[in-house]
Amino acid sequence: MKEEILKLFRNSAGDYLSGESLSTELGISRTAIWKYINILKSDGYTFEASSKVGYKLISTPDILNHQEINPYLSTDYLGNEIFYYDSISSTNTKAKELAGDGLKEGTLVIAEEQTAGKGRLGRNWLSPKFKGIWMSVILRPDLNPIEASKVTLIGAAAVYKAMEDFNIKAHIKWPNDIVLDGKKVCGILTEMSAELNKIHYLIMGIGINVNIGHDEFNEELRQSATSLKLHTGRSVDRKRLTASILNNLEKLYNEFRISGTIESSVEICRNNSILIGRDIKIINRNEEVHAAAIDIDNDGHLIVKHADGTTESIFSGEVSVRGINGYV
Ligand code: BTN
Repeated sequence: MKEEILKLFRNSAGDYLSGESLSTELGISRTAIWKYINILKSDGYTFEASSKVGYKLISTPDILNHQEINPYLSTDYLGNEIFYYDSISSTNTKAKELAGDGLKEGTLVIAEEQTAGKGRLGRNWLSPKFKGIWMSVILRPDLNPIEASKVTLIGAAAVYKAMEDFNIKAHIKWPNDIVLDGKKVCGILTEMSAELNKIHYLIMGIGINVNIGHDEFNEELRQSATSLKLHTGRSVDRKRLTASILNNLEKLYNEFRISGTIESSVEICRNNSILIGRDIKIINRNEEVHAAAIDIDNDGHLIVKHADGTTESIFSGEVSVRGINGYV
């Protein structure tokens, strides 16, 4: 009912709605309407009330639940079902649990804060409350597990496009980072449950530093991480950005789902790559190799050229890629 009441206010273009019209429209008593308005107020919505004309919605809370994201979503299946948490250990861990219980492709787990956010290669992921987008999507592509790493590039391309919708020109650091001002603003962690030739599910975990301030990063992170707020100098609307990522992700993921190819995502990753044309370090376990990044092929592999002139196609798996003198 809360969602239905909010929908009427959102469609009223900022006008007052009388208790009577709400009650007729929704088929519940005026007392019930008054009770729901009070619940909404305690959820962080503010209303102006006038005894003559009724209620006007003044502001909505900065939270990422279904009620707040749904008005901006244009997807068919991504985000149809949203598991929303005020605080959780890790949205990826929760999404794995839900996927194991059989939840559908497109189910989203989102939290305002993660107390044990996970990064790639066993690293931690800083996830302060209300300051970022910490979310995981359950995907069930009918593909060979060997293809799974392609999904990370689809995620990177979707986040890139969503930032572009906000007039933020980022770069993609193959395979899973989004970069602004030479620093990391978003990371993607794709995890999989599979048999030899069948994917049970993939979890695409996306972490975006949206409104994190300078002081919230520790000294070490300050060297390599940034936020959209630090880049733009203003707070960024987390709800619209979340919806825009999901809208873009569904479009790009559909290509993969239907044809198994990721050409549109690769094109976005290639055209906006921070690595192509640079000398990089490829770190695989404890081994470090220097090479020049020259391209990303249609399967999403990074093509590098070694000093002896030979080229190699790098599979994202467990490698970590760095600039010669730092993060990029
Ligand atoms: C990386 O660049 O190392 C990947 C970072 C991925 C972080 C996100 S935040 C939402 C989801 N839940 C997690 O525990 N991790 C991912």
